Amino acid sequence: YMVDKGNHRHFMAKEIHEQPEVVGRTIAHYVDLATGTVRLPLDLPFDFKALKRLVISACGTAYYAGLVAQYWFERLARLPVEIDVASEFRYREMPLEPGELALFISQSGETADTLASLRYARAEGQHIVSVVNVPTSTIARESAVVAPTLAGPEIGVASTKAFTCQLAVLLSLAVAAGRARGTLSAEDEQRLVKALVSVPSLMSEALKHEHDIELLSRDLAKATDVLYLGRGTSYPLALEGALKLKEISYIHAEGYAAGELKHGPIALIDETMPVIVLAPHDAIFEKTVSNMQEVAARGGRIILVGDERAAREASVETWTTLTMPAMDPIVAPIVYAVPVQLLAYHTAVFMGKDVDQPRNLAKSVTVE
Ligand code: G6P
Repeated sequence: YMVDKGNHRHFMAKEIHEQPEVVGRTIAHYVDLATGTVRLPLDLPFDFKALKRLVISACGTAYYAGLVAQYWFERLARLPVEIDVASEFRYREMPLEPGELALFISQSGETADTLASLRYARAEGQHIVSVVNVPTSTIARESAVVAPTLAGPEIGVASTKAFTCQLAVLLSLAVAAGRARGTLSAEDEQRLVKALVSVPSLMSEALKHEHDIELLSRDLAKATDVLYLGRGTSYPLALEGALKLKEISYIHAEGYAAGELKHGPIALIDETMPVIVLAPHDAIFEKTVSNMQEVAARGGRIILVGDERAAREASVETWTTLTMPAMDPIVAPIVYAVPVQLLAYHTAVFMGKDVDQPRNLAKSVTVE
């Protein structure tokens, strides 16, 4: 059906701005707002409690959603996770014990490698659950259980709202798994659901920084290389930030686990290199601060994306700080996706690039 850009210059802008609404809609589909508990709208043919392992596979941005989910399933449900990009998963001949769970994530539901991975897992006797945005897609049809993202049609080639909706679904699943496995108490569940339900308004807050981000992007546009750093769930978000920037602005960007900085990328740092540090004030914030100090000592230009407390306690000179609202760190990757997307978007627009149809990329990769 017809989708238009509304008042926006590009589909990507429209889709970034729609996120509070579509993420809110998705969350409402997975939680019972009245009781503040997760209520999966799914008929699961297995018990989370009986699982020994979860395997996840996907491509591109959907893969990064899976990487965030790995932290959530392991931390909240104590369920070991194996995750790989689908182009590797489909050929690696990973031994899979029948009766375990395989999870696939895809916006389009048509990505050839993800579909082939699903078929491999099914042949190996896995239960198949897919998080998909297009309910009529091949991956949806071939999955025993479809966990829908209610993002609506995504037109911009670079995924935005599908990613944050995927994260909302995956966090709901991880909380449900934690309850079933007895690793989360009823109070834990209430607290996590409360954090999840607050996400749409936190995203609206984050969107208010658009003007600052637009100004910052004019400087970012001059860079030839950009480094994104994060720890914990901010690490996959750093990978996603680098992917978004390179996809639509063609500036070379890399995402790194902040602790790996000294094992390589630190050699690249000089005064010309912007280093975007994604650092909510979470349990490992102090560790990220020491990485920022290493960057600052070499003249790197730090763009800190963090909350007020992070900005106050960073004890390092930053080039700019984008202050995010305070929140439960569990939902930070969903909310911090907003500044990451806006930075890439405005940099590419400022450089005159075609953000909705970047060169050489396809919305859906249906061939190998
Ligand atoms: C392409 C798109 C990406 C997307 C990836 C996976 O590379 O440009 O935005 O993340 O495919 O697509 P899927 O539809 O499986 O999520």
